[in-house]
Amino acid sequence: MTGGGPLLPEHVAALPLTKAVFQEAMRLYPPAPVITRQVEAPFSLGGVSLKEGMVLYVPIQAVHRHERLWERPDVFDPTRFLGEAARGRHRYAYLPFGAGPRICIGSAFATMEAVAILAVLLPALRLEPVSVRAPEPTLKITLRPKQPLRMTATARA
Ligand code: HEM
Repeated sequence: MTGGGPLLPEHVAALPLTKAVFQEAMRLYPPAPVITRQVEAPFSLGGVSLKEGMVLYVPIQAVHRHERLWERPDVFDPTRFLGEAARGRHRYAYLPFGAGPRICIGSAFATMEAVAILAVLLPALRLEPVSVRAPEPTLKITLRPKQPLRMTATARA
C-alpha cells in the first residue's frame, strides 16, 4: 500500500473503500447516537407546536437505520458510500458528525485519522472477533460495546 514507506496524505486519499468501511461502521454504530437542540423561539414542526426551552432529541442512530432512508438498514455494506450509491441520498439521512452550523469541526480530521489507522493496521494484522455474536451497543455518553470487543490479532506474513 505504501511500498514499505511511511503513510502519506496521498495514500489516505487513494483508499475510498477503506473510507467507506469507516463510514458504514459509523452509520451502524454512530459514536454520538443522539444530539440535542433547545428551542429558542416557538415554532411548529410536522404539526407539533414546540415551545421555547423545550429540548429536542435528534435520534441519529435511528435515522441511520431507518428503512425509508436505507435499503436493508441493518446490513453492513460499505458500497453504500461508493460512487452512484452515495449520490442523491438526503443530506440528513447520515449524520455521524451532526449537521448545520454546529457540525463537528473535527469531521475531516477524524475520518482521515481513521483511514490512516486502518491503512497501517490492516496490512500488518489479521483481526478476528473472538465472539460470533454482533456487539451489543450501549450508551455511555458515547455509543460503546456493552461487553468488551475481544479480537484475535495475527501477524500477516
Ligand atoms: C469519529 C469521531 C467523531 C465523531 C463521531 C464526532 C461527532 C460529533 C458530533 C455529532 C458533533 C455535533 C454535536 C451537536 O451538534 O450537538 C460534534 C461536534 C464537535 N466536534 Fe466532533 N466528532 C468526532 C471527532 C472530533 C475530533 C477529532 C475533533 C477535534 C479535533 C472534534 C471536535 C468537535 C467540536 C469542537 C465540536 C463542536 C462544534 C460546535 O459546536 O461548533 N470532533 N462532533
